[in-house]
Amino acid sequence: MSRKKVGVLISGRGSNMSALIEAAKAPDYPAEIVGVLSNRASAVGLQVAAAEGIATASLAQSKFLSRDMFEDTVTQVLESWEVDIVCLAGFMRILGEDFVNRWAGRMINIHPSLLPLYKGLDTHARAIADGATEHGCTVHYVTPGLDEGEAILQAKVPVLAGDTPETLSTRVLVEEHRIYPEALKILANRLP
Ligand code: GRF
Repeated sequence: MSRKKVGVLISGRGSNMSALIEAAKAPDYPAEIVGVLSNRASAVGLQVAAAEGIATASLAQSKFLSRDMFEDTVTQVLESWEVDIVCLAGFMRILGEDFVNRWAGRMINIHPSLLPLYKGLDTHARAIADGATEHGCTVHYVTPGLDEGEAILQAKVPVLAGDTPETLSTRVLVEEHRIYPEALKILANRLP
């Protein structure tokens, strides 16, 4: 079995990245995490990945003259790792059309809502404010429209009386860590 090589893009703590790294330790998992790139040098996830012996890179968009130049460099780093698949895991930058098209069908994201509900930010607070009775997370293909690509997997959790965005996000995160590795496995097995 040839394992697909995966690059993970993060901005912060990287708990979903860690879930992918853990899943990929299984010998029969069809993908391996070969590199982790952050747009923030302080991202805790970078240290976690490095401690696992995984290649890391940090690129601040503000150091580049344009978003295109930043994204071209991200692509160069990913290509230097020979990645087949890109996983966005809490990467807090909107990616441009050229970058998205470059990785079309091979780039996925985890979003903390039951898409197409609550695209964008502050999903947990918005679900609570709406009086939603269920909430959850979605792993989807990345397309040029924000949080619009086809879903690969979704998981639901109940919204409980007295939930705050923090308690709800904790409940959702458990499901994120479960479905992201499953969805990556599905994608890796779909690719030739
Ligand atoms: C997760 O809730 C993810 O769904 C969202 O950003 C958060 C990232 O958390 N896109 P982590 O960095 O994976 O811990």
